[in-house]
Amino acid sequence: MEQNKKRVSAILNLIDKGPLKVEGNFTISGPDGKAFELDSANEAFLCVCGHSAKKPFCDGSHKKTFIK
Ligand code: FES
Repeated sequence: MEQNKKRVSAILNLIDKGPLKVEGNFTISGPDGKAFELDSANEAFLCVCGHSAKKPFCDGSHKKTFIK
């Protein structure tokens, strides 16, 4: 771990037929290393179905794609 990185702690919860919920003190960054702005400081929902139009975040598209 690099010295200048902030300490993070997060809980990851894979929601049944839904996104990956991340809660805690964390940052999500893209391949360029730039952090995404989050709607909530302590919570994010990441797309795991691959159908979101706003990846890496869930936009609810999984509701149309996951079989119930
Ligand atoms: S998991 Fe919600 S859009 Fe992919």
